[in-house]
Amino acid sequence: MKPPKSIQITAIGSYAPPKVVTNYDLSHMVDTSDAWIHSHTGIRERHVADEEESTSNLAYRAIEDLLESYNLKASNIDGIVCATATPDYPGFPSVACMIAEQFGITGPALDVSAGCTGFIYALEVARAMIATGSMKNALVVGAEKLSGVVDWKDRNTCVLFGDGAGCALLEPSEEETGFIDTLLKAEAAGTKALTIHPEKHAIEMDGRAVYSFAVRTIGSTIETLVKRNNLAMEDIDWIVPHQANQRIIQACSKRYGIPEEKFYMNIDRFANTSAASIPLALREMDRAGLLKKGQKILMVGFGAGLTYGGTLLTWTY
Ligand code: UT7
Repeated sequence: MKPPKSIQITAIGSYAPPKVVTNYDLSHMVDTSDAWIHSHTGIRERHVADEEESTSNLAYRAIEDLLESYNLKASNIDGIVCATATPDYPGFPSVACMIAEQFGITGPALDVSAGCTGFIYALEVARAMIATGSMKNALVVGAEKLSGVVDWKDRNTCVLFGDGAGCALLEPSEEETGFIDTLLKAEAAGTKALTIHPEKHAIEMDGRAVYSFAVRTIGSTIETLVKRNNLAMEDIDWIVPHQANQRIIQACSKRYGIPEEKFYMNIDRFANTSAASIPLALREMDRAGLLKKGQKILMVGFGAGLTYGGTLLTWTY
C-alpha cells in the first residue's frame, strides 16, 4: 500500500467529570492550603470522577463529545489507541477494547502505557498504523481516573492529580500538511521516581527528581523539534505541554528562552490528568477558537517511565 502524503488531526473531544474538588476542600482532608498548592503548582481545583465512573466511562464521554461536536458517526471510525495509566482492569480487557465494543468499532484497538507522555506515544502508534495501512483512521484517546490511584491521606501527591479524558481523530490525507515530526524517548534509569505502588495501589513520587527531569526534557524536546525542522521559535504558534505544574513551565521558559505565553495552560482548573491533559487542553483551545488552520502546534509531554516526547504538526482546520 502506498502511504498517504500526510496524517492529520481532524476532530477533538473531551470530558471532565462534573464533580469539582477545590484546594479549599482538600485543606479539610490533609494538612495543606490553597496558598501552598497554588504557589507550588498553579492548581486551584480538579475534576474527580464518582466511584462507579471508570476510565473507560470517561473515554466514552470524550468520544461522544467528538462525534456530536463534529457531526461524525462511530461507524466511520476504524481503530482506537488509548493512552492510560489507570485502566479499568489491571490486565484485559484494555480500555480501547471496551470503548470499541461500546461504539461497535471493529478495527485494531489497543492501550499504550507511557505514563503522562502516553498521548504523545499513542499519537505516534496510530500515525504509524495509518501510514502502513493497518488502520484507515484512528481515535487516539488519553483517559485517566487518577483519583482511584492516589492516597488521599498523602498531601505530597493527592493535591496534584485530577480525572478526565480527551481524544483526537487522526485521518490520512493527500495534502502536504498535518504531522511533521515526532521525538519519543525514555530514561528508564529514573523509573523509581514515579510509580504506582503495586500493593498500596497508590502513586509514589520523588517530586524534586521529576521536576528537574521535566524542565530539562520539555526544553530539550522543544528545541530539538524546532531546530531539526529548520524552524525558529517564532514559527511555533502554540506549545501544548503536559499539565503537571505551572512552575515547571515557567522554569523551562526561563532556562530555554521560550516565551511563556506560547504555552497553553489550564492546570488551574484540571490539575494533572496524566495522559488526558494534552487532549483536554487541545479541546479547550478548540472551543475558544485558538486553533487556526496553518498554525504550527508543538505538543510536549513527560512522565512515568521516565518517558518524554513531543510532536510537531500543522493544524489543518
Ligand atoms: O506528570 C508528572 C508527575 N509529577 C510531576 O510533574 C511532579 C513534579 N514535581 C513537582 O511538581 C513538585 O516537586 C511538587 C509540587 C510535587 C512539590 O513541590 P516542591 O517545591 O518540590 O516541594 P517539596 O517536595 O520540596 O516540599 C517542600 C515542603 C515539604 O516540607 P518540609 O520538608 O520543607 O517541611 C513538604 O512536606 O512542602 C511540604 N508539602 C506540602 N505542604 C503543604 C508537600 N506537599 C504539601 C502540601 N501542602 N500539599
